[in-house]
Amino acid sequence: MNDLLAAARAARDAAYAPYSRFQVGAALRSATGRIFSGGNVENAAYPQGQCAEASALGAMVTAGERRVVEVLVIGSGPEPCAPCGGCRQRLNEFGGPDTVVHLAGTGGELVTTTLGELLPRAFGPSDLGAGSVAPASIAAVLAERAPGFVPAVGLILGSGLGEIADAIMPEAVIDYRDLPGFPRPTVSGHAGRLVLGRLGGVPVACLQGRVHLYEGRPPGEVARLVDALAEIGCRILLLTNAAGSLRPDVGPGALVVLSDHINLQGTNPLVGAARFVDMSAVYDAALRGVLFETAATAGVPLAEGVYLAVLGPCFETPAEIRAYRTLGADLVGMSTVPEAIAARAAGLRVAAISIVTNLAAGMSGAALSHQETLEQSGKAAAALRRLLEAAMPGFARATA
Ligand code: HPA
Repeated sequence: MNDLLAAARAARDAAYAPYSRFQVGAALRSATGRIFSGGNVENAAYPQGQCAEASALGAMVTAGERRVVEVLVIGSGPEPCAPCGGCRQRLNEFGGPDTVVHLAGTGGELVTTTLGELLPRAFGPSDLGAGSVAPASIAAVLAERAPGFVPAVGLILGSGLGEIADAIMPEAVIDYRDLPGFPRPTVSGHAGRLVLGRLGGVPVACLQGRVHLYEGRPPGEVARLVDALAEIGCRILLLTNAAGSLRPDVGPGALVVLSDHINLQGTNPLVGAARFVDMSAVYDAALRGVLFETAATAGVPLAEGVYLAVLGPCFETPAEIRAYRTLGADLVGMSTVPEAIAARAAGLRVAAISIVTNLAAGMSGAALSHQETLEQSGKAAAALRRLLEAAMPGFARATA
């Protein structure tokens, strides 16, 4: 993507915008991998100027190419710059809903979205993503979209587990982009929607998709998701994730309640906040009890274990897995721990469940892949969904 950024910057710097003084550059990657760029070109009849995206498309079409797979647009201001309504249509002529669009500004922030997400929306500052002009707070958005709704439980869905949100009777579904300051996931299997509604009769706020440290996000961003759940009223945070198992007897498809964690991510969401939060009982004993009682009644097998968090995004080596076993880990994954820490700092009670998607590296001889993680977690999602639905009333009682 740096190649697109460099090309778009160069085009912006060469753009002709003496009237608006807002130079814009666009760079497109075509289906054959070539990059075409262009800047905006104004004239004294100001509304008849040509946008950067149109210039870049012109260059691409002239070269005989007809398909755009990735776009980067950069403006002259600090805010990420989005294509205008007309250019969304122009790009759609040669791309499609999955065409990736990066919005950049001089401030260094980059918003990554798709044409499918941009296209149906009106062109306005609130469509520029995080950091743009938007309602003052997440609570204000909720008051507008789901008046009077106060969630008791926050639920964060891990890789491939998005469909669990289908069990929620929705009151409102809000795209992360409409939530001020909300970080948006860039990894496949994470939709980026907040679903507000009832699960097992209990009001919940479900984050369909999380951000990971391995996406290059600052740890504080992960904490922001959790703080937002606390801000809108959640008293409990229930975390789910996909994990590798270090126990041969707990294989793919197993559900494991976290009893504790080991943080080997090399960072912490509270860095900078200097909060000395007690971590001696992160995963709430009463909530774990509710999960085990519910599982027994529902006939869902449930194990318990210690989760070790690595930064990722690569999987571990067999030697690392052997080392982690001696440290006392039962599971390994790339998420959950930052959210659990942030939740304890925000005073939330925490429970977490892993879906085992694979035996950890070196244990089965099989190669590991994100695709397999998504497939396996999708398969076990139905059992987790039943468990969560049935456990919610017990969760609500535990905090009453
Ligand atoms: N390692 C780390 N993270 C994971 C794994 C794994 O084996 N499986 C699913 N998430």
